[in-house]
Amino acid sequence: MYILGIESSCDETGAAVVSVTGGHREIKSNIVASQVSTHRLYGGVVPEIAGRAHIEAVSSITYEALKAAAVSVSDIGCVAVTSHPGLIGALLVGVNFAKSLAYSNGLPLVSVNHVHGHVAAGYLADDTLEPPFLALVVSGGHTSFYDVKSYTDYEEIGSTRDDAAGEAFDKIGRVIGMPYPAGAEMDRAAAQGNASGIILPSPALPGENLDFSFSGLKTAALNYINNEKMQGRTPAPCDMAAAVTGKIVSAIVRKTGDALTRTGYRRMVTAGGVAANTHLRRALAELCAARGVKLTIPPIPLCGDNAAMTAAEGYYLFRAGITAGNELNASAE
Ligand code: KG4
Ligand code: ZN
Repeated sequence: MYILGIESSCDETGAAVVSVTGGHREIKSNIVASQVSTHRLYGGVVPEIAGRAHIEAVSSITYEALKAAAVSVSDIGCVAVTSHPGLIGALLVGVNFAKSLAYSNGLPLVSVNHVHGHVAAGYLADDTLEPPFLALVVSGGHTSFYDVKSYTDYEEIGSTRDDAAGEAFDKIGRVIGMPYPAGAEMDRAAAQGNASGIILPSPALPGENLDFSFSGLKTAALNYINNEKMQGRTPAPCDMAAAVTGKIVSAIVRKTGDALTRTGYRRMVTAGGVAANTHLRRALAELCAARGVKLTIPPIPLCGDNAAMTAAEGYYLFRAGITAGNELNASAE
């Protein structure tokens, strides 16, 4: 069966065709139109601009995705669209487009949670992956643990109480002169830096919980930079990047260890844009190797926002009979 995925929750418009046959999942096409260069001018995503850019891109990239997969709409078995969470004006574009496409072609429509979609990137990265397992989604908008009980049953067992890890990378990176989104550059800079002498708080909340708070780290890093500047010193960007990355990675590793203990799972998926971080990938691989846990981290193009992940999760919702009606709406939450 072919599933057409549509994704427009933030600043990437995605359209993809995924095929699932006899349990074998395969990406036939995965087209992403990124708006990053537009939003970079403003230092972050401008929701109004994002919505307009999605509407310009969505029809042509859907056409491209069908063409690249060498299929036509009549070959598609269902249309899967990200309906929540995200920027409302951005989501509405994809939802409205997918509804119209499904309706006019008599196709079933499936509504996909964007964060569950990130987890489903794991199914595309590893054909043997099946629930139950532990999932960690780390992105610009989310830092959450899930007990993935089945393909359609996700229980959130921990999350950030405020900002996401990617938001901390982006905002601290901006202050030290890196263009939006700063995550990848922070990653590269951290490898050259020396964190010693830069004292920052841990984003891991104390106690038995699996929760984080990244806003304290963000504020402490910005205060440190301002204090240094007031004393006539400018911290080297690579040293700041190393200090911030060290705190984020060690907090995530610590809570991941707790989540593995709590769930008892021997399988884990890490996904979302920040799962591209080389320091985090290495640290999680070490943790999982030491615990005898099989870890799946999708390749970098499947970590960031894309529609193949939406199609993958959409397939399982469709298979479970969880389809959306004509009244489907987008929701920011
Ligand atoms: O999943 P994603 O594309 O969009 C959201 O759903 O948020 O994640 C984007 C986030 C941004 O904050 C970006 O800076 C971050 O992922 N990111 C990284 C890296 N590559 C992207 N953060 C740390 N290290 C990276 N290599
Ligand atoms: Zn995302």
